[in-house]
Amino acid sequence: MALRPAGMDALSESAMSIIRSTDELDAQFLEAPILAIETSCDETAAAVVQGRRVLSNVVASQVEMHEKWGGVVPEAAARAHVESIVPVIREALSDARIEFGALKGVAVTNRPGLVGALSVGVTAAKTLAFGLRIPLVGVHHLEGHLLSPFASTGKDLPAFPHVCLLASGGHTEVVRVRGLGAYELVAATIDDAAGEAFDKSARLLGLGYPGGKAIQDAAESGDPKRYKLPRALESDPTRFSFSGLKTAVLRLVQTSGKKIDVPDAAASLQEAILDVLVSKTIRLAELYGAKQVTLVGGVAANGPLRARMEQESKRRGMAFATPDLSLCTDNAAMIGLAGSFRLCAGERDDLSLDTLPNAPLP
Ligand code: KG4
Ligand code: ZN
Repeated sequence: MALRPAGMDALSESAMSIIRSTDELDAQFLEAPILAIETSCDETAAAVVQGRRVLSNVVASQVEMHEKWGGVVPEAAARAHVESIVPVIREALSDARIEFGALKGVAVTNRPGLVGALSVGVTAAKTLAFGLRIPLVGVHHLEGHLLSPFASTGKDLPAFPHVCLLASGGHTEVVRVRGLGAYELVAATIDDAAGEAFDKSARLLGLGYPGGKAIQDAAESGDPKRYKLPRALESDPTRFSFSGLKTAVLRLVQTSGKKIDVPDAAASLQEAILDVLVSKTIRLAELYGAKQVTLVGGVAANGPLRARMEQESKRRGMAFATPDLSLCTDNAAMIGLAGSFRLCAGERDDLSLDTLPNAPLP
């Protein structure tokens, strides 16, 4: 991926027409209750949103089940979604105090993700759209993450254009968000995602799955300078690489044996991951002349990462926004926001809506 200097890339006409100012933001979301469903990986989630307001946000996690195998087993994930989907949807409606008949649309993650898992949510969404005679829209999981800071939680809203770090268990990307629906990928990982680096290293350190929160907790009492771990591709902000870090942690565990200091190792690992995430994102934001940085995805739930990204953005005069913790890890409210925006723009899918394991950003 070639890095283009700020201002040199031609905006297409269609992208230009999508740019919205924050002032007119509310008008871009459908001001009616819609149900959103998310089953792309290991969380069965449903939410009701109305415009940018999140009326309910229910997540049934399969963490305990996948913990046994140290990761997500696709067939087991799909079966667990089948068991949870109906109760989770009912709970989302009940929490929002909304009857099925009041819904004006259904949004569902249909890409990317585990096909068996995605199809459980998509089938439920089609059934409801058909039965209730309401519009259906398929949503790209990553667009959900990108729009998560737009939920009206009383915090500052991000302005357009901005530079967003999206870091999760499956993705580590920097995206230029020019407006709703206008996204440009400017950096990506060439191997593991940042969340995978947390998860796999946590497993090596005996801290369980998923590893991000466990590493964060263990790191609190640790010394981040104790163990030397690699920061890959330091000179290239457009590429991330975390596989070498995982190998370095494996070597550390093998050479130190029982003498390893787990809090120090967790702190050193967290520092290594944060160093590259923050420095590359800030460099790209500066290169593109961004006035705003956002942080989204499961890894955005990391407290020290949130603090550092905010500090480094503000130090350079750039605003910073990140969603509440409940909207960082996988959830359906963010899918509702993206779906609400797409329904408001007139987008509709029919009952032939497909599930796609891989799909570029819309
Ligand atoms: O967005 P997400 O829920 O699912 C994907 O789309 O992948 O992200 C899950 C990832 C996991 O790798 C998990 O370890 C990581 O987010 N994560 C964290 C924290 N909470 C979750 N990583 C670092 N610190 C955390 N506090
Ligand atoms: Zn995700």
